[in-house]
Amino acid sequence: MILPIYVYGQPVLRKVAEDITPDYPELKELIANMFETMEHADGVGLAAPQVGLPIRVVVITLDPLSDELPEFKGFRRAYINAHIIEVGGEEVGMEEGCLSIPGIHETVKRADRIRVRYMDPDFVEHDEVVEGYLARVMQHEFDHLDGKMFIDYLSPLRKQMIRGKLNTMLKGKARGSYKMKQVK
Ligand code: NI
Repeated sequence: MILPIYVYGQPVLRKVAEDITPDYPELKELIANMFETMEHADGVGLAAPQVGLPIRVVVITLDPLSDELPEFKGFRRAYINAHIIEVGGEEVGMEEGCLSIPGIHETVKRADRIRVRYMDPDFVEHDEVVEGYLARVMQHEFDHLDGKMFIDYLSPLRKQMIRGKLNTMLKGKARGSYKMKQVK
């Protein structure tokens, strides 16, 4: 089932999300719905707050990039209770967008190596060092779990440049090719 994606201005996007326990109701169904919603909207990542739930669940698919990055062929994973433990390596700039901030793409600098701790959908714990493109997507998505969005990293000048588009979202008048839940 495709879920509406919550847009900038929705308070849930600014909450710190909570860890969940294995008895969280219908988790498998939620994960399946998040994959479907993300893929329908042509995203590579989606965090639960973006579908209105303040819990630490994220889905990532890098399969659409596998023409250029063959190591990601079939890459489609869910992360439960995800946390970034360490940030290291070099800072690299790359353009990002977000399904909750339609129509805005800006360069964001992020570390190219991180250590993450999370559980898979069977609640097996993982502790991994991740590099490169996946490290970027994870940082973007796991930020959502701490109420952060990529526009928070922009310079005051870049923020000024996108102010008009953000105000359109705050008025509930954003447009996108997928189902959205806007304020008002
Ligand atoms: Ni996002």
